[in-house]
Amino acid sequence: MPTALVTGASAGLGRALAAALVRREWTVIGDARDAAALRSAAREDGFTAVPGDVTDPAHRASLAEACPSLDLLVNNASSLGLSPLPPLARYPLADLEDVYRVNVFAPLALTQLLLPALTAARGVVIDVSSDAAVEAYEGWGGYGSAKAALDQLTAVLGAEHPDLSVYAVDPGDLRTAMHQRAFPGEDISDRPLPSAAVPAFLGLLDERPPSGRYRAADLPATA
Ligand SMILES: NC(=O)c1ccc[n+]([C@@H]2O[C@H](COP(=O)([O-])OP(=O)(O)OC[C@H]3O[C@@H](n4cnc5c(N)ncnc54)[C@H](OP(=O)(O)O)[C@@H]3O)[C@@H](O)[C@H]2O)c1
Repeated sequence: MPTALVTGASAGLGRALAAALVRREWTVIGDARDAAALRSAAREDGFTAVPGDVTDPAHRASLAEACPSLDLLVNNASSLGLSPLPPLARYPLADLEDVYRVNVFAPLALTQLLLPALTAARGVVIDVSSDAAVEAYEGWGGYGSAKAALDQLTAVLGAEHPDLSVYAVDPGDLRTAMHQRAFPGEDISDRPLPSAAVPAFLGLLDERPPSGRYRAADLPATA
């Protein structure tokens, strides 16, 4: 039975993906900071909860301990940063550093820690990206530049580890808590639910195209 670690598995895309992998008979370990919410999701969806913050080295060590063998790492947990999104001219740098800690350094640190297990399994790393990594949307400079950095880490890791499949995936707009924080007070009910993006991620796992950056909308979907 293959094993996956999905960060940010208590809600949104991470939860939808963790649940879908469990339905495909994967063993799934998931984290999130809110232990009660994570445990409740884990009970309902059938994955193992390891609560904690991805920026905490001790928590990352617990995650590595929980998956001695690993076929798939999904770096999904992410921070939008301040809401409403501040323009770069006024972005408080301490807050920007927090965004980079969650969106750039934590995924790299977790990947470093889990590389031996992933390499042994000729496994897959999926770093969840965003269109904000490549488009110049006003207000999105903090989050978007962090996702751009994550994209480049993903690309170089792919070049440095030809035995692994290393992907950055832009899931597209999804109706989640993070998306609502990006558009405070706005009606986001026209955005698809996170489960809509899952078939593209499963398609990626089935097809295993070359390492690189993909948009969920362009990937073949697996039911
Ligand atoms: N929603 C969109 O429209 C959209 C578009 C493009 C890309 N994305 C990307 O898709 C991914 C999932 O986003 P989402 O919209 O599904 O977010 P979400 O609904 O807000 O869920 C985020 C998940 O990550 C966890 N999390 C956040 N910070 C964490 C931390 N420091 N350590 C551990 N867990 C943490 C949250 O739980 P806790 O708060 O309890 O920790 C929650 O489980 C992110 O990488 C995001 O950047 C989303």
